[in-house]
Amino acid sequence: SQDEIILAFESSCDETSVAVIKNGDTIMSNIIATQINSHKRFGGVVPEVASRHHVEEITIIIDDALKESGISYDDIDAVAVTYGPGLVGSLLIGVTAAKTIAYAHHLPLIPVNHMAGHIYAAAFVTKLQYPLLALMVSGGHTELVMLNGPADFSIIGETRDDAAGEAYDKVGRVLGITYPAGKEIDRLAHLGQDTFNFPRAMDNSDNLDFSFSGLKSAFINTVHHADQLHQTLSREDLAASFQAAVVEVLVDKTMTALQQHPVKQLIVAGGVAANQGLREALGARLATQMPDVELIVPPLRLCGDNAAMIGAAAHILRGKHVFAGETLNAEPNLNF
Ligand code: KG4
Ligand code: ZN
Repeated sequence: SQDEIILAFESSCDETSVAVIKNGDTIMSNIIATQINSHKRFGGVVPEVASRHHVEEITIIIDDALKESGISYDDIDAVAVTYGPGLVGSLLIGVTAAKTIAYAHHLPLIPVNHMAGHIYAAAFVTKLQYPLLALMVSGGHTELVMLNGPADFSIIGETRDDAAGEAYDKVGRVLGITYPAGKEIDRLAHLGQDTFNFPRAMDNSDNLDFSFSGLKSAFINTVHHADQLHQTLSREDLAASFQAAVVEVLVDKTMTALQQHPVKQLIVAGGVAANQGLREALGARLATQMPDVELIVPPLRLCGDNAAMIGAAAHILRGKHVFAGETLNAEPNLNF
């Protein structure tokens, strides 16, 4: 048929996911198996545990994704896979599965950068118009990324220390919130007030880099100091104050980036794009200061790790004839 069908794999961290994507913008299936419950008691993702789960799950998930989409191997035009960045043992499971299927069914293999996948989750929301800007906020990355054309990325700002999601998870630990803590802090924040006035790092400079480790330390010191004095602080106010500081810096830097690099669309991507406070604040600032810029935020289920976004990015890469051979390897430190 005329339709392009891509079978996509994602296994970079603690989600095993396989998706079937039609023409780069239609999800026929997107099966996501999360391992969160196996990692929670360790306070973070344990690489050994993660790879073992991927091995156990992957063939079942492939079958589920094919069954739900109703397609057969004969309908598939290409196989796509995340090959980095991520945990090497986790990445290897997806890469090996994708290579095997591509080889067995004589299909081209498309190598996808996990970050590009997060950004292209936006392709399920609207038609993308270049140049565009992406605010990439996840557990491992915090970056402002310009796309001057399809899959043509350049980083114009990035964190110098912790990623935004990492900061959420670390302060969450101090509040006794299990990993990953972002969603729960977001919920608490809406019940409290910004009373602590935590630092907003590098907020008044023209440069587009971020820093969250000072904020994280200020938060942890505040809680420990209160503990020593046997005082109990409001969890809601702590969460609200932390979130206000993170969101203010993310929004301010994004507005500065938009002034320096005029675009028609702004994509917010990655796990932290699920943050309600960030979505509201960015929407409000754009509406008053740059009403012509379209804000694109993927639906919640496409903000976290999933294979649908990898299929969307693969569609763009196929158009640029980006293919890999049987020698494709996992690249844990892959950059744009
Ligand atoms: O993109 P992602 O699923 O995995 C990575 O590639 O890193 O992002 C996971 C991160 C975690 O740090 C989690 O705490 C954070 O996204 N997160 C949130 C929210 N939901 C998930 N952070 C803030 N607010 C949320 N609602
Ligand atoms: Zn991710």
